Amino acid sequence: MRLLLLVGMLTACAAVTNDLSGKMFTFPLETNTAHVKLRTTKQDFNAVTVCQRSFTDLQRSHVLFSLAVPSFSNSFMVMWDSADKELEIYTHDKNAVFGKTDYKINTWHSVCATWDSASGLVQLWLDGQPSVRKFTSSGSNITGSLIIMLGQEQDSHGGGFDTKQSFVGMLSDVHMWDYVLSACQIQKYVDEQNFTPGNVLNWAALDYQLVEKVMVENKVMVCI
Ligand SMILES: *[C@@H]1O[C@H](CO)[C@@H](O)[C@H](O)[C@H]1NC(C)=O
Repeated sequence: MRLLLLVGMLTACAAVTNDLSGKMFTFPLETNTAHVKLRTTKQDFNAVTVCQRSFTDLQRSHVLFSLAVPSFSNSFMVMWDSADKELEIYTHDKNAVFGKTDYKINTWHSVCATWDSASGLVQLWLDGQPSVRKFTSSGSNITGSLIIMLGQEQDSHGGGFDTKQSFVGMLSDVHMWDYVLSACQIQKYVDEQNFTPGNVLNWAALDYQLVEKVMVENKVMVCI
C-alpha cells in the first residue's frame, strides 16, 4: 500500500511526456495567442543545437523557435525575416543573418541552428546544407528561467507576442541538445535515420502544453 502510494506520488511529480513520432503541431490560425510551450528541466547551456521541420505558406516574417530568459527575450531564437529574405539566429539578443538560402514556402524544411559560448559562433543548416559560421555572442551561458515556445515570438519573458511574427503552418521533429551536433549527426537528423535524440527537448518524449488553437495531427498526408 505504501509502495503504491509512493509510486503514485512519483508519477504525479514526474513530467508527463508524449511520444510525438509521426506527428506534427498544426497552427491553423494567425493569432497573437496560439502557441506551444515546451518544458525542460535543464537551465544552463554553454552550447545549443535546435533542429526542427517546418512547413508554411507565410510570406511575411515568422518565428520558428523562441527561447527567452528574464534577461534576454531572444536568448536563443530562429526566425525568417521577409524584408531581407534571410534566416536569422539570435543568442543573447544578438543576431546573425543568413541570406540567399533555399527557404521556400509550401515545402517541408529541416532547420538546425547551433551555437557555442566559447567561440560565440552560430551556424544554420537548411535541409542539411551548412551556412557560413557567424558570430553572435560569446563568453556567457544561456541561463535563467527558460521559456521555450513554438508559434509565437517572445518580445518579453513569456509574452509580448505579435500577430505579424507568429507562425502559421506545421512544425514537427523538434529536438534540442546542450552541445553542437556534428555534421554527420545533423545529416542523420535530416535524413530521418537513427540520430541521437535531443537531451534537452526530445520529440519522442516531449513535455509540452498547447495554448489555444494548436492541433497535434498525423504528419503523413499523402497516400502511400
Ligand atoms: C555554463 O554551462 C556549463 C554547462 O551546463 C556549466 O558546466 C558551466 O558551469 C556554466 N558556466 C557558468 C559560468 O555558469
